[in-house]
Amino acid sequence: MKDLPLSKVYQLLEPGPVVLLTTAYKGRANVMAISWHMMVEFEPPLVACVVSDANYSFAALRATKQCVIAIPALKLAPKAAAVGNCSGRKVDKFKAFGLTRVPAERVSPPLIAECFANLECRVADTRLANKFNLFVLEVLKAWIDRTQKDPKTIHHHGHGRFAVDGEMIRLKSGKP
Ligand SMILES: Cc1cc2nc3c(=O)[nH]c(=O)nc-3n(C[C@H](O)[C@H](O)[C@H](O)COP(=O)(O)O)c2cc1C
Repeated sequence: MKDLPLSKVYQLLEPGPVVLLTTAYKGRANVMAISWHMMVEFEPPLVACVVSDANYSFAALRATKQCVIAIPALKLAPKAAAVGNCSGRKVDKFKAFGLTRVPAERVSPPLIAECFANLECRVADTRLANKFNLFVLEVLKAWIDRTQKDPKTIHHHGHGRFAVDGEMIRLKSGKP
């Protein structure tokens, strides 16, 4: 075993798919990329997300307490990376990257038509938002686009490297 810099630990434990998080604030929708998220509860589904306070989306999420988690498949990877590399402070990212807004049912931020799944969320807990930029979201409504067959999610490994969701295997429960 060799020493691994602590600065690289996140590249090992960042397993979840890259998702896009939409917000709507002061009459304008915005979108950012997120890969620091984890499931916290099955039902109602709770998801913890780290949204850095350096991002424009932080203020929107804290003020409006609403967002949509939109999950892109492989073909959207370049757009997802682009969305995660510029700020909505200056750019209308939906326009700039050709992402289609679709009105949500339960929240103000839009769904993204090109994503294979969209989760309408409310902020359920902000107790760790000031300390760790961590928001616990409750999924209020979930959408899936079944016309996208076998969507492959993308998983960030740092510095522009992404793994693509691979082969599906089935194991009998508890008997590998
Ligand atoms: C693949 C990828 C994953 C990212 N994951 C996160 C994350 O988990 N949390 C975060 O705060 N920013 C993350 N970012 C950075 C934001 O998406 C980026 O700072 C974005 O420009 C913020 O946009 P905004 O200022 O419009 O909110 C990620 C970027 C990329 C490209």
